[in-house]
Amino acid sequence: MTQPQIKLHYKNVLAKVEPLGPEHGISDDQLNDLAEKTTPLIKMLNQQTQAGQPPGTAYRKLPYDTQTPQQVKQLVAELKDGCENLVVLGIGGSALGNIALQTALNPYMYNLDDKQRSGPRLFVFDNVDPAQLTSFLDSISDNLDKTVFNVISKSGRTAETAAQFLIIRDLLKNRLGKDAPKNHIVATTDFKEGTLRKIADEEKLPSLQIPKGVGGRFSVLSAVGLFSAAMCGIDIDSLLAGAKDMDTRVSCEDFYKNPAAINAAVNHHFYNHGKKISVIMPYSYHLKDLADWYRQLWAESLGKDKDLTGNEGHIGPTPVKALGTTDQHSQVQLYREGPNDKLFTFLQVENFHKDLKTGPAPKSAPELEFLAEKDLSSLLNNEKKATEYALLQSHRPCLTILFPEVSPYTVGQFIYLFEVTTSLTAALFNINAYDQPAVELGKEATFALMGKTGDYEPGRTYQQFANDIQTLTEVDGEYLA
Ligand code: PA5
Repeated sequence: MTQPQIKLHYKNVLAKVEPLGPEHGISDDQLNDLAEKTTPLIKMLNQQTQAGQPPGTAYRKLPYDTQTPQQVKQLVAELKDGCENLVVLGIGGSALGNIALQTALNPYMYNLDDKQRSGPRLFVFDNVDPAQLTSFLDSISDNLDKTVFNVISKSGRTAETAAQFLIIRDLLKNRLGKDAPKNHIVATTDFKEGTLRKIADEEKLPSLQIPKGVGGRFSVLSAVGLFSAAMCGIDIDSLLAGAKDMDTRVSCEDFYKNPAAINAAVNHHFYNHGKKISVIMPYSYHLKDLADWYRQLWAESLGKDKDLTGNEGHIGPTPVKALGTTDQHSQVQLYREGPNDKLFTFLQVENFHKDLKTGPAPKSAPELEFLAEKDLSSLLNNEKKATEYALLQSHRPCLTILFPEVSPYTVGQFIYLFEVTTSLTAALFNINAYDQPAVELGKEATFALMGKTGDYEPGRTYQQFANDIQTLTEVDGEYLA
């Protein structure tokens, strides 16, 4: 591990930090208890990963998979030339990682400035708003032949992604000929099963595989995230190297040397001490969409109504994303004076590589002298410190993830750190991190409302299911105000 590492700084959640004290911070004894409770779970997770059980832990093998990056690079070599637009069609775990990698690792003006681009423009559609998609398709109409669509769906049956796929497939055939989908669509889906796999095989669409046991929100380091990243010039080898090095650190069975274990334990502790909300607050534009990615990872993995022994619990810290400094002017009033029910995690960057200096203060405004001839990065990082200080004065605990820089390597580290943190937090709660039963009902209800036929469940057809949904959700004129 010769590269600078990301680090978890956890002093400011401890009782020894004066504004927190024993009432709001973690005492030495509590930390030792947490270490005792968490250490066997690190071992258990390591063993589960080796044994491949539960299958959801398969994401831990991704940094060691050498075949997928090869396949991705080969496809990129075939498609990149002449490709001006890459369009990802996917949702949830099949989109948020792609967005996060692009925001983190390519320049802010990537899509708009040809000089700054090292690949096609990237657009990610993770919704089915017809006005949005129409406007986009109209604007690329003359360049459709220079556009590649990456349809990503692990299950291959998500209504939003399937509908987008049907639109694009039809458009390509009508505009560019019946064979066009083969040259303009890449399907990323389950290695063996599902509707999209079936179509990809039958229609000979180029395709990439999502390995067995890798769930959507844990899939960014698989072909799901790697293909769009590599098409857009991101160094995927370095991304995976960061994750692999982090695997060594988070596999360590010494609690105090394992950042995922400490992170999970601290989160678990505060949840049980009334801090049910977990705010993640990057102080870096590039890291802002990682907060979105984290929000899904945390919410779908940890929001569960039962533990593994079947006890009802309605468990789950609510993840909230904020952006420094933007949200200092929107949220911090609440964060300091509202309910003390939050744990804060800041993301802080040490070296921005690019910086700007402020100019001299005008003679007419000597009050701006304190800001004159200063680096913008120092303003941003001092604002982070100032916010942390202010929150601590209000007895709010704060963690910080320190990035030496934002690079493929450190972003790979961050992603992997938070994936393993999620697994360990779930283990502390004794819940299953890898399913999302509550999301399924909404998906099935959509199928019913859109006219799916056949049996929804024993004794109830999709049609009857749709009627029940309509009855409950129709607008009742008596209550319109
Ligand atoms: O994490 C998950 O499993 C979900 O968020 C899925 O990624 C999301 O529902 C999309 O599913 P799919 O990739 O099967 O279309």
